[in-house]
Amino acid sequence: MLYIYGQPTVFGNLVKHLLCIIAISAALPSPAQWDNDWIRPGKIWADDQGRPINAHGGGILYYQNTYYWFGEVKKGKTTRAAEVTSWEDYRVSAGGVSCYSSHDLTHWKYLGMALLPTTKDSSGDLDTSRVIERPKVIYNERTGQFVMWMHIDKYDYSFARAGVAVSNRPQGPYHYLGSVRPNGQMSRDMTLFQDDDGSAFLIYSSEDNQTMQACLLSDDYLKPTATFGRILVDANREAPAMFKFNHKYYLITSLCTGWDPNRALVASADSLLGPWTMDGDPCTGPDADSTYHAQSTFVIPVEGKENDFIFMADRWNKTDLQHSTYVWLPLHFEKGSPVITWKNVWKPE
Ligand code: GAL
Repeated sequence: MLYIYGQPTVFGNLVKHLLCIIAISAALPSPAQWDNDWIRPGKIWADDQGRPINAHGGGILYYQNTYYWFGEVKKGKTTRAAEVTSWEDYRVSAGGVSCYSSHDLTHWKYLGMALLPTTKDSSGDLDTSRVIERPKVIYNERTGQFVMWMHIDKYDYSFARAGVAVSNRPQGPYHYLGSVRPNGQMSRDMTLFQDDDGSAFLIYSSEDNQTMQACLLSDDYLKPTATFGRILVDANREAPAMFKFNHKYYLITSLCTGWDPNRALVASADSLLGPWTMDGDPCTGPDADSTYHAQSTFVIPVEGKENDFIFMADRWNKTDLQHSTYVWLPLHFEKGSPVITWKNVWKPE
């Protein structure tokens, strides 16, 4: 604080703010120094405008030679809900869903907000006082629509529903249709999986996070059907990321420990609705036992490369969620099993 004759002044405050801005700018690397030519797991990742990518709990859509990254916008102060005492309910206002595009999975262009949150009605699913997490998008060839599913919740996660939105363009804007509990079942951490025959599934932590379920979606992908399976029964798993290799389904998940990291496990199955078997930890190298201090969110099949996948995870900063980062690592099959390898710096070929 600057004082003139012992009193703080408007001029003094202005100088203080300028000094503060200069100090912060000097401490942060410039966009050029961020060097978005490479993936640096766990480090700040800049978009085409030099701003940190804000797309957490994300997923990738590949459409017409372009990758689209959708994720949760986390912005503003993290607070902890005092009423919730059984677990650490750290949260930021629901920020909606952002969208970025890329041709090489390294340089990402910001395309704007795919789904905006709302502010006027606290009973609305998309209200900033609620929870909008883990958005995933798939394209429906029959309807020509892009369909987004996401986890919709109340601040204390008691709502446990899956929300759905549609758009005619990959980047949106998406029109929100509402939320459901598929077949009356709870739905929290979720993902989407589109199979080779065009059928699509919603995969979600259910039964109070004890059991994961997979539910076949209707032909237009907008509704759950009555066909569903209990896939990881009493396993207490969340953060699902599903992929397919050699006609087999794989599902990487985490244990339910809130924003804190834990060991990832992969399960596999010949049929998506089960039975599934737990195969062990796909991560190797340093910090594999905490999934490199991160939590799974998606596995990207690299186009044109049969045995090249990218494991996408979030390194949550639970007391300052907007400064959470991303851990993207190569995933390959070795001797019939998926293996994730740590890299400080890398890029997909
Ligand atoms: C995690 C979950 C995150 C978020 C968080 C809230 O377990 O994977 O997506 O919901 O809990 O505490």
